Amino acid sequence: MTSDLVKKIERLKKEKNAIILAHNYQIDEVQAIADYTGDSLGLSQQAAEVEEDVIVFCGVDFMAESAAILSPDKTVLLPERNAGCPMAEMVTVEGLRAKKKEYPDAAVVCYVNSSAAVKAESDICCTSSNALNIVESIDNDQILFVPDDNLGHYISQQTDKEVILWAGRCITHHRVQANHLDEVKEAHPEAPIIVHPECRPEVVEAADYVGSTSQILKFASESDAEIIIIGTEMGILYRLNNENPDKTFYILNQGLICKNMKLTSLKHVADALENVQYRITVEEEIRVRAKETLDKMLELSR
Ligand code: 13P
Ligand code: SF4
Repeated sequence: MTSDLVKKIERLKKEKNAIILAHNYQIDEVQAIADYTGDSLGLSQQAAEVEEDVIVFCGVDFMAESAAILSPDKTVLLPERNAGCPMAEMVTVEGLRAKKKEYPDAAVVCYVNSSAAVKAESDICCTSSNALNIVESIDNDQILFVPDDNLGHYISQQTDKEVILWAGRCITHHRVQANHLDEVKEAHPEAPIIVHPECRPEVVEAADYVGSTSQILKFASESDAEIIIIGTEMGILYRLNNENPDKTFYILNQGLICKNMKLTSLKHVADALENVQYRITVEEEIRVRAKETLDKMLELSR
């Protein structure tokens, strides 16, 4: 069954001149058939430069939306239409406009986990791998950072700028508590603990390394440690195990599972290619303004 689907996907991919992009949290089978697997920054960079006519985006909606913003001439497909990011929904354009009135001197930095409309209302976009560089590149002393207060707090600890936080966060990463690190440290005292900056401040504080999903993969492959504790969504274990067969990885907490990232199956990918569904488009006026914020980020991340 799986191999039939894989063959079908390969055939349709050629017929439609399509590329499959997948996030590091996708289910193993989907990562296995992807042409490129990466973090939000890597996926945006890929999406901006693809030559194929069709981009099948295996991730959540804001990621496919970013691809549609960056490559409007391509057909961008989100195979499972319900795959959203709850954190991205925690900031609305109306809410952001009201906050901007409160802080007229602040530059707005929006985490890529946000809607196209919120990106259009912001000055520049960032991902977890470049957030500090982006914030430091801005002339303003005051930054309004939306929507992730955990990532915003992490950045605020490393800059002299005043960072105004938004009350949003990732429900998956926020599940990890500081006592989970204490327990794992007791069981594996030698093992480094590496976490995503979407985790709570006290978790980030107690970790040995903090980075985006691709930065976590890089750290793990370069580390001499035989056992490594991972504090991000467990889909990342697929690449960690494949790329580091001599190392052992433990997930920091069993709650580190994002149900939205798990919605996309091989069947959805095959159906997406066959029926050209579900097409993601962005209204042109919003797209043009949102693209400016993404372009500025990509320019600073070369
Ligand atoms: P990365 O950009 O680190 O892959 O993170 C995306 C994301 O949604 C994390 O929850
Ligand atoms: Fe959104 Fe968190 Fe899922 Fe990432 S892991 S897609 S931030 S809910």
